[in-house]
Amino acid sequence: MADPFAFSIARAGVSDLPSLTSLRRAFHDTQVRMGLLDLPQDPEGHLDRSTVGLLESRRSDVLIARTVPGAAVAYATSTVRFVPDGRSKTVGLIEEVFVGADHRGAGLASALVDGLIQELRLRAVDRIQIRVLARNSAARALWERLGFEPNVLMLELPPADPGHQENIP
Ligand SMILES: CC(C)(COP(=O)(O)OP(=O)(O)OC[C@H]1O[C@@H](n2cnc3c(N)ncnc32)[C@H](O)[C@@H]1OP(=O)(O)O)[C@@H](O)C(=O)NCCC(=O)NCCS
Repeated sequence: MADPFAFSIARAGVSDLPSLTSLRRAFHDTQVRMGLLDLPQDPEGHLDRSTVGLLESRRSDVLIARTVPGAAVAYATSTVRFVPDGRSKTVGLIEEVFVGADHRGAGLASALVDGLIQELRLRAVDRIQIRVLARNSAARALWERLGFEPNVLMLELPPADPGHQENIP
């Protein structure tokens, strides 16, 4: 198991662009494997463009974890959204949390999320939320351990059986 004290966590900067882009690509692959369906038209191009935007956005926080020699192995992002409903105006949305497979189980995700929560509290958001895929049991256990509770549940019919569709005239 990796030693959590052998990592440093800091705000990502422009020099992290290549490693952040490849970590985000790995994150998206995990989500697609676990059933994420709402993907952009050109996922690769979108990832490149959106990573630059993420680093430049004043509404986003991006934290990156490096091993002591310096390799980036994990990251987490959040963005503040304004909800015009009059009651809870700002939502801090934790959007992406990813820990490289060799570094899991050492508390890195927890440390990154703690860091994001501190940043979001400084931004005085009214609520903090995360969207999680139902079949992502590791992530659901992480969020539950950190005190997050279900709010909205999205239910969907499983995709139609392709064999069945072929029989439709
Ligand atoms: C989910 C993920 C971020 C967890 O990262 P991690 O650094 O291993 O998590 P931590 O070590 O901080 O674990 C904190 C808690 O989460 C839970 N947890 C983490 N991984 C788990 C697993 N595989 N099975 C069950 N519970 C798990 C445990 O409660 C754990 O606390 P414990 O070790 O005291 O039991 C990591 O597995 C990952 O990157 N997965 C792919 C990307 C992803 O799905 N991100 C989340 C999107 S919502």
